This record gives sequence, C-alpha cells and structure tokens, in this order.
Amino acid sequence: MASLTIVCGSPAATLAFGARLGGLLARGDVVALHGELGAGKTQLVAGIAAGLGAPDAVTSPTFVVIQHYQGRLPIHHADLYRLDGPADLDGIGLEELLDGDGVCLIEWPERAGDRLPAEHLVIACAWLGPTERSFTLRGAGQRVERLITALRAVER
Ligand SMILES: Nc1ncnc2c1ncn2[C@@H]1O[C@H](COP(=O)(O)OP(=O)(O)O)[C@@H](O)[C@H]1O
Ligand SMILES: [Mg+2]
Repeated sequence: MASLTIVCGSPAATLAFGARLGGLLARGDVVALHGELGAGKTQLVAGIAAGLGAPDAVTSPTFVVIQHYQGRLPIHHADLYRLDGPADLDGIGLEELLDGDGVCLIEWPERAGDRLPAEHLVIACAWLGPTERSFTLRGAGQRVERLITALRAVER
C-alpha cells in the first residue's frame, strides 16, 4: 500500500498542499478525510477545491450534510459528523454521488461504515501543534497508488 505524510506548518501551507492534490484529482475519485475536530480536514478540502478551480469559499456545513462546488469537475463535500451511522446515509444521496460525475471529499467517513467504494484515498489528518498539522495519505488500488506516487513527485 502506498503512503505519504506531509506536514503543513500553517493554514496557508495546508491550502497550498490541498491545491496541489486537487490538481491531480480525476472524475470518480473519492477522498476520505479522517481526524479529530480541528485537525484541518475542512481547511484541506478548501485547498483541494481551489486546486480543482472552484471559486466558492468552502465552509463547514452546519445544517447541510453535503455541499456542492463546481470546478473543472463537480465537487461533492460531505461532512458526516452529525450522522449516527451508515443507516443515516439513506436519503442523503451520497451513494449516487460516489460513482458519479465528480470527486467526493468526505469528512468523518467512519460514519459511513463500509459504504464507501473499496478504492478510495484515505487521508489521516492530525493536530501536531497550534499551527502544525500532518496529513498521511494511504490507499490500495491502482488509481490511488498512482495518485500518491504523482503527489510524492510534486511534494519532493
Ligand atoms: N497547518 C494548519 N493546517 C490547517 N489548519 C490549521 C493549521 N494551523 C492552524 N489551523 C487551524 O485549525 C483549524 C482547522 O479547522 P478545520 O479545517 O475546520 O478542521 P476540521 O475540519 O478537521 O474540524 C482552523 O481554524 C485553522 O485555521
Ligand atoms: Mg470540518
């Protein structure tokens, strides 16, 4: 399994890293963002959306579980924090989006149980210090491993 850890020393660095990742994403990619509150998941999503060319500001949805942005691809941003478990996924329309026309960026993916596609990019986000966060990318499968390899070349 390919893996890559990036440390970002400021919110701006996280945005920039996210943008580089966003530049590499393709139709059908699913990104699962793990990590505690404040770990930088939404900040990274904002960077990814910017890298995909979406002009809208990314926010943490309070009442909406899925937000949509339009970049060079449609971007579906789900925050499953308020779901109790996979059964709550019924009716929010996530599964149709997962093999749809764009990219899916999912915070609190553990709430979805095993209902994400087998092949997806996992990003473990972690708090290292007041302005420092780490992002560890992992994933099995040809597409995800290729993505991590491409990103490693850019981050070096
Ligand atoms: N290096 C960094 N990367 C990302 N966020 C950072 C960083 N340093 C400080 N922060 C702050 O941490 C918070 C992260 O919040 P957010 O991205 O909403 O986290 P989450 O979605 O994981 O709950 C923001 O207030 C952001 O400004
Ligand atoms: Mg968030």
